[in-house]
Amino acid sequence: MAESPLLPLVRDVASKAADAVVGMVTRVCGLDDDRGTLERQLLPVECKLANAKERSMTNGYVKSWMKELKSVAYKADDVLDDFQYEALRRQSKIGRSTSHKVLGYITRRNPLLFRFEMSRKLKNVLEKVNKLVEEMNKFGLEKSVHKEERRHPWQQTHSKLDDSTIIFGRDDDKKVVVKLLLNQQDQRKVQVLPIFGMGGLGKTTLAKMVYNSQEVKQHFQLKMWHCVSDNFDAIALLKSIIELATNGSCDLHGSIELLQKRLEQVIGQKRFILVLDDVWNEDKIMWEDVLKPLLCSVGGSGSVIVVTCRSKQVASIMCTIKPHKLVFLSANDSWELFSNKTFSNGVKEPAELVSIGRRIVNKCGGLPLALKTMGGLLSSKKHVHEWKGIEASSIRDNDGGKYEVMPILKLSYKHLSSEMKQCFALCAIFPKDYEL
Ligand SMILES: Nc1ncnc2c1ncn2[C@@H]1O[C@H](COP(=O)(O)OP(=O)(O)OP(=O)(O)O)[C@@H](O)[C@H]1O
Ligand SMILES: [Mg+2]
Repeated sequence: MAESPLLPLVRDVASKAADAVVGMVTRVCGLDDDRGTLERQLLPVECKLANAKERSMTNGYVKSWMKELKSVAYKADDVLDDFQYEALRRQSKIGRSTSHKVLGYITRRNPLLFRFEMSRKLKNVLEKVNKLVEEMNKFGLEKSVHKEERRHPWQQTHSKLDDSTIIFGRDDDKKVVVKLLLNQQDQRKVQVLPIFGMGGLGKTTLAKMVYNSQEVKQHFQLKMWHCVSDNFDAIALLKSIIELATNGSCDLHGSIELLQKRLEQVIGQKRFILVLDDVWNEDKIMWEDVLKPLLCSVGGSGSVIVVTCRSKQVASIMCTIKPHKLVFLSANDSWELFSNKTFSNGVKEPAELVSIGRRIVNKCGGLPLALKTMGGLLSSKKHVHEWKGIEASSIRDNDGGKYEVMPILKLSYKHLSSEMKQCFALCAIFPKDYEL
């Protein structure tokens, strides 16, 4: 197995330990208790790894504990691979004649020997994992506040606004959305409010502002944030919501009915707010017939779901309240956003750069992502000719909001150093919304 970061590695091992195929072989060999213990022991490790990583910067013991964990995780992975291989080997025999099967077992692998050997290896690994867990408990590590999602680790499930981000021109939107949400308090059924608009307009940013506002904190008894992206699968969504509501892991395997019951139990009569960020599903039936009945029939009165989406169609499929359409930033707010990013060193802005900057801001058409990207790019350019070069480059004038943000993003990429380009390219191996 190639070198990999520790958290994904531990996750892989834990999910391999939970794998049904591995379980089948360990049961046959009478080693399923050990397999189950391994699976369970890895869960708290997974939850506390983020904190361990932080602590390892200043604590040498934690650092060497992580090193040992990595080596043990690789060993565990090898052992589980052996079980998987054995399962495949046995399955490949199905269909062959019994005599062939028996001959295969005797000549190629003696089951008793296999059992003996694997028992030794598994116990050895388990002993090491147990020791590591004991040590971990002594460090007093904390569970990640933002729970790591096991089945879909790429999904962003947090709502924290980056403290260094200053938000311009969205105070009114925030007030409108918060008011709308609070006004639903007498509704018995869960109400759904979509926020829609083009990519990079700040839908997620606005949803975070709302979600983290004092009024929302006080009004709702349960707050949950789930990034949906392309994965609108009912089971995955229900599991994630159960996990968010309980702040623990949901190991329920089985039917939607089972998950629905659990959902009802964990949400009870609590007034909740659930943000479904970045929804793409345009399949009306999937929402109307499957998810809406599940999600909109739980919770106390006044519960709401906020959806962020680019597509107006998604918004109209899901809404029960008129969708909130996010608009481009005003010229003033656009300038504030851009200049805050570009001239952030406190030095008086040179007049010539300001006038070029204003023309560039105009080309960004009030789109926060474009303004932020351009601001970031120009913050490293100090000479008038560089600014003029960027102004003259391929970005087109904004034509009533109908323009492409891609040329701006490409331009910003073009100006990265070669090392940064490599780092950027490396990010392409992570799935969408993966939290690094
Ligand atoms: N009003 C604002 N002021 C400052 N920065 C902003 C503002 N709105 C958005 N941004 C920044 O612009 C970027 C894009 O915002 P965001 O991710 O919220 O867009 P989005 O509409 O959710 O896009 P997508 O459709 O791709 O999910 C982020 O880096 C965010 O910090
Ligand atoms: Mg978004």
